[in-house]
Amino acid sequence: MQKVIVLDFGGQYNQLIARRVRECNVYCEVKPYTTALDKLKAEAPIGIIFTGGPNSVYDPASPQVDPAIFELGIPVLGICYGCQLLAHHLGGKVTAGTEDTTREYGKTETYFNTDCKLFKGLPREGVTWMSHGDYMEKVPEGFSLAAHSDACPTVAICDEKRGFYGVQFHPEVNHTQHGSDMIHNFLYEVCGAKGDWTMGDYKDTAIREIREKVGDGKVLLALSGGVDSSVAAALVAEAVGSQLTCVFVDHGLMRLNEGDEVEEAFKKWDINFVRANAEDLFLGKLAGVTDPERKRKIIGEEFIRVFEAEAKKIGRVDYLVQGTIYPDVIESGLGASATIKSHHNVGGLPDYVDFKEIIEPLRMLFKDEVRSLGRELGLPEYLVMRQPFPGPGLAIRVIGEITKEKLDTLRLADFIFRDEVAKAKLESSMNQYFAVLTNMRSVGVMGDGRTYDYTLALRSVTTTDFMTADWTRIPYDVLDRVSVRIVNEVPHINRIVYDITSKPPATIEWE
Ligand code: XMP
Repeated sequence: MQKVIVLDFGGQYNQLIARRVRECNVYCEVKPYTTALDKLKAEAPIGIIFTGGPNSVYDPASPQVDPAIFELGIPVLGICYGCQLLAHHLGGKVTAGTEDTTREYGKTETYFNTDCKLFKGLPREGVTWMSHGDYMEKVPEGFSLAAHSDACPTVAICDEKRGFYGVQFHPEVNHTQHGSDMIHNFLYEVCGAKGDWTMGDYKDTAIREIREKVGDGKVLLALSGGVDSSVAAALVAEAVGSQLTCVFVDHGLMRLNEGDEVEEAFKKWDINFVRANAEDLFLGKLAGVTDPERKRKIIGEEFIRVFEAEAKKIGRVDYLVQGTIYPDVIESGLGASATIKSHHNVGGLPDYVDFKEIIEPLRMLFKDEVRSLGRELGLPEYLVMRQPFPGPGLAIRVIGEITKEKLDTLRLADFIFRDEVAKAKLESSMNQYFAVLTNMRSVGVMGDGRTYDYTLALRSVTTTDFMTADWTRIPYDVLDRVSVRIVNEVPHINRIVYDITSKPPATIEWE
């Protein structure tokens, strides 16, 4: 199988580059810039991509490459710092740009020479996304200019004979128009890629690696029923079968049928599947509690207690599997910000279980890649496409005191909402949508009688990152069908409202 290596010089978008390569059906690995040359050679990549990075190439302390890398006969694409590195090593000159000329940040109108293979078949002009303070004052011998902007004459360079290309901008980010096409051109026009890689290959490689690592050890995983932990569980189940124990803590705060669906999906693997039915325990602890933060704390603590008790029953554990995905890795690196809500995730488990090592098989994947891996593993669509669901579950969607009756009311209403959304084929425009049982009651009339029942709120947001979100413009007729069905089919609800606040100032969940 053909392979491309992304050499990491400390840029922010390195995994995004790898992901773009994988989108072109080419296998890709990210390696540190310190990887020894003979190791790189042994990998026999069809191409190498140098990433961006925060340094200046002329600084003696900056990360460098062994210049012999340019003698391997392997095409190289340098991005931002990577481009400057290429120029620096091959006889060009890189200097600090001055304010009024060559430093560029953000969206920049750029002009391309479409005779260069990198830009073949693409428009001659378009927006690129820049972030560089240094610039190439002198282009190295043998290279020609392939793009410029109004401020910078040396936006892209190429030496087509040797297969060396450099771009000052970031083709991997969405702000660069046709950026993915440029990467595609590098792979197919320059490196001779055949497109022989699929998610099925990723699955096979991951399974092989997990088997090698685990040997005959015991593996433990906390299954939440969300996409990430389910896909991680399926992958490890496929790799080591009965050596895996999945503990699924059913706190009774799931949506309609969810617990049974999760259990059903894992029946096909010969694993030790433990469903801890802890509904009574959780509802007992939550009785009379109305404060959102206290609810979250209680659920978080009980979750760990139940998990710990189940884990102890298994005895010695060698590996703990976590469904960490790449966006989690970036987010946890982002320093401390104000606590708006104390999120409860299975990520805190390592402190409570004794084990040798953590395995995070999805660490390099983005959400949509995780979903397609889930499909490869034969997980049902309802698990693979599941929308985000908070750890504390419906407890933070029943405002005020939680009771089993209220939860059942909410479950049914939420199910009808989701059902109508699916019938209207609106799922792809709604990133997260659910019902909230408010604590407010109001007067209504049903038949000839007066009612005094709960108000249900519908919430739907459209967002890419869940940090900011807009409320979804659901067509009125769909809202109408949902409203009519819920008041008719769900006892104790006589009024429906739709939440039309964005985030900020509101949050997505109500508690
Ligand atoms: P908020 O309400 O903070 O939610 O705007 C942002 C996203 O996070 C989800 N969420 C949680 N996820 N544990 C989780 O795993 C939690 O405790 C939790 N609280 C909120 C929420 O559903 C939304 O997708």
